Amino acid sequence: MNDFSSLNFNPAPEIDRITPRQFKALAGMIRAEIGINIKDSKQTMLEGRLRRRVSAVDAGSIGEYCDMVIGGRLGPGEFEHLINAVTTNKTDFFREPAHFDYLMETVLPLYAAENCRQIRCWSAACSTGAEPYTLAMLLDDFALRVRGMDYRVIATDIDTDVLATAIKGIYPREAVDPVPDHLRRRYVLEPKDSRRADVRIAPELRRRVAFGRVNLIEPTYPIGDPVHLIFCRNVLIYFDKQTQEQVVSRLSEQLLPGGYLFLGHSESIAGFNLDLEQVASTVFRRSP
Ligand SMILES: C[S@@+](CC[C@H](N)C(=O)[O-])C[C@H]1O[C@@H](n2cnc3c(N)ncnc32)[C@H](O)[C@@H]1O
Repeated sequence: MNDFSSLNFNPAPEIDRITPRQFKALAGMIRAEIGINIKDSKQTMLEGRLRRRVSAVDAGSIGEYCDMVIGGRLGPGEFEHLINAVTTNKTDFFREPAHFDYLMETVLPLYAAENCRQIRCWSAACSTGAEPYTLAMLLDDFALRVRGMDYRVIATDIDTDVLATAIKGIYPREAVDPVPDHLRRRYVLEPKDSRRADVRIAPELRRRVAFGRVNLIEPTYPIGDPVHLIFCRNVLIYFDKQTQEQVVSRLSEQLLPGGYLFLGHSESIAGFNLDLEQVASTVFRRSP
């Protein structure tokens, strides 16, 4: 028999994991705070995202980090980082363009015909800002063509990192590829140094968008007066059905009578008992 005991094998590196108990506790905290359901199958994804925080707070391992968060030893500031780490922020300028066609071809002409001269719009899960800046470009373009027309965009998200990016309004050049040329020329600034790869939203447009942090699962939304348009796209999918219904119900209360709610293309309000009528694919209208 060969004796391998003297050979020096490198043991496989131990993978830093969290236990099922820690996963359950953390997922429960995240769900209670922001409504996002993290399925058991997403444990590896969650671990990957939390690893960045382990060194940031000087924890010895991801398990130790979790115990510190669960035990409340890191304070509310760390919980904000945790929330920022678990949100999914995918977005694009002119994402789901049929919504913007409907806005320009149907909704805004209707408001103009009704003599409405101040359009208020809310992007309710705005991520890094592509959605509210898309809206601002279109509303601004429309306002230039309709005498006396004015507009305002409110943009909110739970994630303070994406809000910081949105406020700066600086994007990699390819991010604005979907913006039609005439709008890009007017609202997107090229860098003075042509070697730089990023572009910036023009300050006149940035000034038209007010950013803030709003958690959609809170019972009230501090956005001020009711609005004509709400874009709440691609966030309901992360909530369970009951939370979705509560959120959509609160959103519809923030709409003016006859106002419009735009949801993401895979989102639905089927089975919810709400004062909303479907007027186009994933576009709903509050009764006038
Ligand atoms: C996939 S992005 C969608 C961005 C944009 N609406 C779009 O469709 O391109 C979802 C956004 O929802 C935000 N979010 C998640 N939970 C939230 C909550 N409870 N309240 C507010 N925003 C939330 C995330 O931070 C993320 O930026």
